[in-house]
Amino acid sequence: MGAATVTSSPRSMVAVAFLAAATTFLLAAATAAPVPAIYVFGDSLADVGNNNHLPTLLRADFPHNGIDYPGRKATGRFSNGKNSVDFLADSLGLASPPPYLALSRSNANYANGVNFASGGAGVSNATNKGQCISFDKQIDYFSSVNASLAQSLGQAQTTAHLAKSLFAITIGSNDIIHYAKSSSAAAGNNQPFVDALIQTLTGQLQRLYDLGARKLVFLGTGPVGCCPSLRELSAAKDCSAVANDASVRYNAAAASLLGGMVARHPDMRYALFDSSAALLPFINTPAAYGFAEAKAACCGLGDMNAKIGCTPLSFYCANRTSHVFWDFYHPTEATARKLSSTAFDGSAPLIFPMNIRQLSAL
Ligand SMILES: *[C@@H]1O[C@H](CO)[C@@H](O)[C@H](O)[C@H]1NC(C)=O
Ligand SMILES: *[C@@H]1O[C@H](CO)[C@@H](O)[C@H](O)[C@H]1NC(C)=O
Ligand SMILES: *[C@@H]1O[C@H](CO)[C@@H](O)[C@H](O)[C@H]1NC(C)=O
Repeated sequence: MGAATVTSSPRSMVAVAFLAAATTFLLAAATAAPVPAIYVFGDSLADVGNNNHLPTLLRADFPHNGIDYPGRKATGRFSNGKNSVDFLADSLGLASPPPYLALSRSNANYANGVNFASGGAGVSNATNKGQCISFDKQIDYFSSVNASLAQSLGQAQTTAHLAKSLFAITIGSNDIIHYAKSSSAAAGNNQPFVDALIQTLTGQLQRLYDLGARKLVFLGTGPVGCCPSLRELSAAKDCSAVANDASVRYNAAAASLLGGMVARHPDMRYALFDSSAALLPFINTPAAYGFAEAKAACCGLGDMNAKIGCTPLSFYCANRTSHVFWDFYHPTEATARKLSSTAFDGSAPLIFPMNIRQLSAL
């Protein structure tokens, strides 16, 4: 506030108060139109602590994870700080939805959103079986959340609430990683693998629709062949071409799947983020995006910090904002922040047929 207001008359004080109120209003209007809640499904890119409650090796509830999170807390996020769904919630002015497994069954408030995502999960039940909450199981859990909401709010209210809420989904990377490491990938034609995955995904997204989801945010798979773990496997330390090709095909097939769903269900809307196309430029020309290191992980051990994940015994880099990758599979908070900003306010072909701000406003 300028010095002029210090000596202002009562009349201009009123004007100042009005201006402050107007500013508050404008700020509120500048954030996206309110959606009541976000329901999150997927893998470690979106997990905010579900796996802390599982007997699994796929977890991140220890340092150096969370080193840049408020309180330096290792929450179970596979990141040095926040992940993409945290930034999505921030953009909407909502708290990041809590992990489903941390909520008390008897007394939980599901109306503010729930995060079902679980590190290791894939489209296929077989992906990391027994080590995570599979996507099918996450939808089972959401089905009980629907029943519980219907009991507390009534069915009509629940239907209206869910129709206004965002359903954020990030799934497929783990299926592609397993496939790229398997011998079937050597055959050289990735389309049959992608087709099978999409067939399963079709049933899963239809189930979400049947349970009341109307606004889908589908975060497509990134260039997973360039994650330090897969890169490290190649003699030349190149990205896995098989994994990157499968990811591009998967995102394209997801686009036609979602387009087809909207054609069948005119009350459904979606925003599809092409994480592959959005993230590859960071990797190919890091300096143009404010990064200094796009190949090695920040936290880990061994060649490129990619032999072993981020544990309390691992090395970690001093400057996390200069690295694209936090550990051998996951992006840094800096990467997640930039990608989320594009998904929220960007345009086609990276986010389409509308961005998340537009989807939220509907
Ligand atoms: C995956 O597991 C769910 C139970 O969580 C089950 O309903 C479904 O049939 C399974 N799908 C396949 C393809 O095995
Ligand atoms: C949601 O829950 C209510 C209440 O149990 C139930 O009547 C309704 O069928 C459920 N919706 C679906 C799609 O299962
Ligand atoms: C961290 O890295 C970024 C990007 O390379 C750079 O802009 C910034 O100055 C670095 N910060 C420090 C403290 O070195």
